[in-house]
Amino acid sequence: MAAQVIDGRKLATEVKNQVRTAVEAAFGRGRRRPALAVVKVGDNPASEVYVRNKRKACEEVGIRSVAHDLPHSTSEIALLSLIEELNCDPEIDGILVQLPLPDQILSTAIIEKIDPAKDVDGFHPYNVGRLVQRIPLIRPCTPYGVIRLLESIGAPLKGQHAVVIGASNIVGRPMSLELLLMGATTTVCHRFTTDLRSHVTRADILIVAAGKPGLVPGEWIKPGAVVIDVGMNRLDSGKLVGDVQFEQARERAGWITPVPGGVGPMTVAMLMHNTLEAFHRRHQLGH
Ligand code: GUN
Repeated sequence: MAAQVIDGRKLATEVKNQVRTAVEAAFGRGRRRPALAVVKVGDNPASEVYVRNKRKACEEVGIRSVAHDLPHSTSEIALLSLIEELNCDPEIDGILVQLPLPDQILSTAIIEKIDPAKDVDGFHPYNVGRLVQRIPLIRPCTPYGVIRLLESIGAPLKGQHAVVIGASNIVGRPMSLELLLMGATTTVCHRFTTDLRSHVTRADILIVAAGKPGLVPGEWIKPGAVVIDVGMNRLDSGKLVGDVQFEQARERAGWITPVPGGVGPMTVAMLMHNTLEAFHRRHQLGH
């Protein structure tokens, strides 16, 4: 039987509606709107799309988005000084620096410069460390969104075998930490993994974030498995596809996310959620 397709757009709309309601309630009580600084350096075509989507989402939920579009030639020092300015700005609750950055800028230096309380991407070592130690504060948006998708279908995670393909700082690593937090037995596969197939065939929950179209053939999927495809690959034909062979995997999986319309919208929705949380926390702390 064909898998049920998980509607990421629908859940993302629900999350954004909750954020909008909370933003309007705070605004109605006389507070200013939450504000997110969205920093883009250069003109990477994929980043242009992601940043546009993030700014559009801010508009939808009533968050003020503050655009900083810098040229490709921007120096690391110039970007560090912008971050410093945003860290000190009492009107800014969240700072998002779209990755990747041009080669002359060390992204780790930039991420470490962001005030952890404003790090709505959840990439600062402080926030990653909180997740490692099972006391999450601001959680990376994509893995957090995946957990929300899994919860929305009532997928049991405790004791289940979860396999993550990809070990990036943005998705794979924090994803494995989220799954551990949920009690899943978690395997992380990466570029040096041998016999990827043997791992995939044992996965009750499969999360693929490798950025390689067609990496996972449908015949590898364990019957009934939950398949979450984080891949977003633009083919020469212009078609957007994930890392999993969708049609074939759909024949075996119990649940599967589409690309587009699966994980992508949830990443943006969780960014809105994180910005609202950062805003609330700043106000609770009296800033
Ligand atoms: N580049 C790809 N994904 C992301 C993300 O979630 N946040 C940022 N800042 N950059 C990215």
